[in-house]
Amino acid sequence: MNITVFFRIFANIFQKNLSRKKNIEIQNLALTSAGAKGFSFGKTEEGKTVMVQNAVPGDVVNVQVIKSKKNYYEAQVIDFVKYSSDRVEPKCRHFGLCGGCKWQNLAYEKQLEYKSQEVFNNIKKIGKIEPFEYLPIVPSDETYGYRNKMEYSFSASRWLTAEEICSQNEIRDRNALGFHIPRQWSKVLDISECFLQVEPSNKIRNSIKKFAEKNSMDFYDFQNRKGFLRTLMIRSNSKNEFMVLVQFFEEDKEKQEMLLSFIQTEFPQVKTLLYAVNPKGNDTLYDLDIQTFNGDGFLMEQIENMQFKIGARSFFQTNYHQAVKLYEIARNFAGLSGSETVYDLYTGTGTIAQFVAAKAKKVVGIESVSEAIESAKENAKLNNITNCTFFCGDMKDIFTQEFISENGRPDVIITDPPRDGMHKKVVETILDISPEKIVYISCNSATQARDLEMMKDRYETVKIQAVDMFPQTHHVESVALLRLIK
Ligand SMILES: C[S@@+](CC[C@H](N)C(=O)[O-])C[C@H]1O[C@@H](n2cnc3c(N)ncnc32)[C@H](O)[C@@H]1O
Repeated sequence: MNITVFFRIFANIFQKNLSRKKNIEIQNLALTSAGAKGFSFGKTEEGKTVMVQNAVPGDVVNVQVIKSKKNYYEAQVIDFVKYSSDRVEPKCRHFGLCGGCKWQNLAYEKQLEYKSQEVFNNIKKIGKIEPFEYLPIVPSDETYGYRNKMEYSFSASRWLTAEEICSQNEIRDRNALGFHIPRQWSKVLDISECFLQVEPSNKIRNSIKKFAEKNSMDFYDFQNRKGFLRTLMIRSNSKNEFMVLVQFFEEDKEKQEMLLSFIQTEFPQVKTLLYAVNPKGNDTLYDLDIQTFNGDGFLMEQIENMQFKIGARSFFQTNYHQAVKLYEIARNFAGLSGSETVYDLYTGTGTIAQFVAAKAKKVVGIESVSEAIESAKENAKLNNITNCTFFCGDMKDIFTQEFISENGRPDVIITDPPRDGMHKKVVETILDISPEKIVYISCNSATQARDLEMMKDRYETVKIQAVDMFPQTHHVESVALLRLIK
């Protein structure tokens, strides 16, 4: 066959598939469950799964297919035939446009039910684990105001709504201080209220914006890479003390002084006020020279009788009260007697390591971020904990037989990897050294299930418990206890 003819036939097939996919509409689709990435799920008459965004279980919808895969369709809502009785009025005026809190329109009990179901289904379907004890999901006491860290961006070209664009009115107010629109990094939605952090978080953000505009301070222009104000971070601790960090794109000492003095005078709750000048291409804090304008430069947080120093760059679980519950579950699952060597893999700032230290002979924490390891060491010293040692490195490279020979074979491993789960090499090392117990904490039950599957010939999954750390979102944490099969 001549190559031109081949391509013409191929193009024809491709075109046909494309238009067929474009034209697939499904009427009266009943959405019956929800889970991964905030999708709600229904089934076609033929039994194919349909995943739909921006709807909730109980809704009946007409949808258009936007992605067609062998086992499922991804579709978007054309219109709602019936609204779910599980819907509630979203609290926030930015709901729908803002990328966060996508489940604000779903009753909290239902959010818990679907999160719990998602963990259970992943463990069963991806992990092929059965049976195991499945404990009830731990709800969050606070369903709003639970976050201790918020990050906002300044932008000179605010995200405009469709109505604003269609209206004939001239739009003068183009500044934004808020959140990036999902998948459109240069666009920022101006936020005037957010219920995720306690007050005076909103007052601080809104007053800064007002003060900056009144004093003709330029907001960051993403397109032309210029402007004065770049980002704002507001952190708090469980005593409701605040840390504020302003990133400036350009140096202007007079204006910096004006703005920072304003924050200091206006908000006595701000115990420490920081700033950095950042002309880089990205706005990450990690390589910036952070200056202290006021206070100690850090906040203190207490868990049980331990103190943790939280600097601008420190990782700390964002929902404090739920983090304490999560750590308690992990410690109970580990069932320590005081004689065990425990490894805390992906230790961050060593919080879990220190939380279990009093019940262990020795704890070894490993983490790839050197600053976090420095904080872990500093905090352990502060807490007079002498049986924890911390090491920095990429887990797959540092957690080796050689490392274990030097630091002792673990009786218990507590592991809390990032969303991607554990590297295959890390799982293999765990299997090689075969600790009695593994406590696996995860913020992504799909990768957790994948890793449990790899270990299931050697480890029995005894029990699993989901913990809700992020109400109003689909995110869920889960803790699994694995026991070595003898
Ligand atoms: C979910 S956090 C765990 C935080 C900690 N357990 C706590 O409760 O504060 C995952 C941690 O894994 C670290 N990390 C990510 N990839 C890593 C790797 N390849 N090797 C070692 N640590 C890694 C991250 O820096 C982060 O601190």
